[in-house]
Amino acid sequence: MKTVEIAPATGKLGILLVGLGAVSTTVIAGVFAVRKGLSKPIGSLSQMGTLRLGKRTDNRSPRIADLLPLAGLDDVVFGGWDLFEDNCYEAAKTAGVLDAGLLEQIRPELEAIKPWPAVFDRQYVKRLDGPNVKKGANKKDLADQVVADIRTFKADHKLDRLVMVWCGSTEIFMGESPAHQSLAAFEAGLLANDVTIPSSMIYTYAALKEGIPFANGAPNLSCDIPAMVELAALTKTPIIGKDLKTGQTLIKTIIAPGLKARLLGVEGWYSTNILGNRDGEVLDDPESFKTKEESKKSVLDYIFQAHLYPDLYKEIHHVVRINYYPPRGDNKEGWDNVDLVGWLGYKMQLKINFLCRDSILAAPIVLDVALFLDLAKRAGLSGIQEWLSFYFKSPQHAKGLYPEHDLFIQLMKLKNTMRWMIGEELITHLGREYYD
Ligand SMILES: NC(=O)c1ccc[n+]([C@@H]2O[C@H](COP(=O)([O-])OP(=O)(O)OC[C@H]3O[C@@H](n4cnc5c(N)ncnc54)[C@H](O)[C@@H]3O)[C@@H](O)[C@H]2O)c1
Repeated sequence: MKTVEIAPATGKLGILLVGLGAVSTTVIAGVFAVRKGLSKPIGSLSQMGTLRLGKRTDNRSPRIADLLPLAGLDDVVFGGWDLFEDNCYEAAKTAGVLDAGLLEQIRPELEAIKPWPAVFDRQYVKRLDGPNVKKGANKKDLADQVVADIRTFKADHKLDRLVMVWCGSTEIFMGESPAHQSLAAFEAGLLANDVTIPSSMIYTYAALKEGIPFANGAPNLSCDIPAMVELAALTKTPIIGKDLKTGQTLIKTIIAPGLKARLLGVEGWYSTNILGNRDGEVLDDPESFKTKEESKKSVLDYIFQAHLYPDLYKEIHHVVRINYYPPRGDNKEGWDNVDLVGWLGYKMQLKINFLCRDSILAAPIVLDVALFLDLAKRAGLSGIQEWLSFYFKSPQHAKGLYPEHDLFIQLMKLKNTMRWMIGEELITHLGREYYD
């Protein structure tokens, strides 16, 4: 029996991206390239993943895209904001992620996407400044302008539904403030230009007001404050964040659960990166880096659960560094040194050197999150979508719960949520039936 009714994915889906930088342009160009049959959507669960149904002996593992009513890539339309005026083709060239040869083949589609003026204030991203910025009487006025952009986009492209993903730069570190505690306080703060409301929250507010699902690809708070949770409940809108889980943290949340599963101790985990793209430049500012650092550091605490295993993990020294190094562009290099402790306290070391491509890892997960949030909305789900924590470094979670960081538990949760949505039996991996 079906647990939820899922409305069909009729018509077109608008994907609103805040920030047309390296990640966004790689998602957009990727979708165009896949549509034209030029490339494959590698790394995307929504496009390439399968879902096992029933018993292992049933041999039923349909493609997720065939099983769930997801929006098709032909029905997706992109729009976005940036403080630079470059169209999507120029921005993709500047980002330097994709080959010029590929970009030329999809040039007209990319050139057609021109960013709307951004809500931007240098106070929150110190290393950036650009000309394509909105002016407004106050922050409420700026939010209204974002809503107007969204409505015009929807009407111009005859869109059926929308989702928004923040792919803008990482803002300075900020804790929760009184203006974040309720919707009423937040709305008063918008009118009063409260300094604790950064640009990212203005977009989030505009999306949620319109009932548009929102995901946060960066570590700034954005939808992870009580006021936004309240607004999401009010407008029945799905939300999720924060900070896309790519690169070093992805590897960390693959390796750490394995070490813990075998009860191997860890004395230290030293992670360092060199990165030369605009994201690296922004993160070179200590206040933006602090936001990222908090997000990157929490994963090991939750995975290792030192309070349950003090002999193994209590004294762990976890250090994370990012250095801006222009020659590498978007091709980040991450080094990890893990100091392990085994049987009888004997020490070992594990070295990981990941030569990755930041936006190549991030693009498929932006696409998946957008398509799954749209599915969630059509399935009548609202508020925090914890089943999508698979994609995030600091998964947003309900108050009083600890976040789940183990990639394999996250994947099981994601797949079981899909089974639950379509009324299929959940898979517990108990497997008694094969032996009884
Ligand atoms: N690439 C990854 O693997 C990865 C992983 C996790 C998180 N992220 C986060 O995703 C975000 C995007 O990363 P990127 O590599 O594309 O960076 P980028 O610097 O190439 O792109 C960010 C874009 O956002 C724009 N921007 C900044 N503030 C804005 C605002 N208020 N309104 C509109 N546009 C704004 C910038 O002008 C820039 O074009 C960053 O916050 C980054 O930390 C990236």
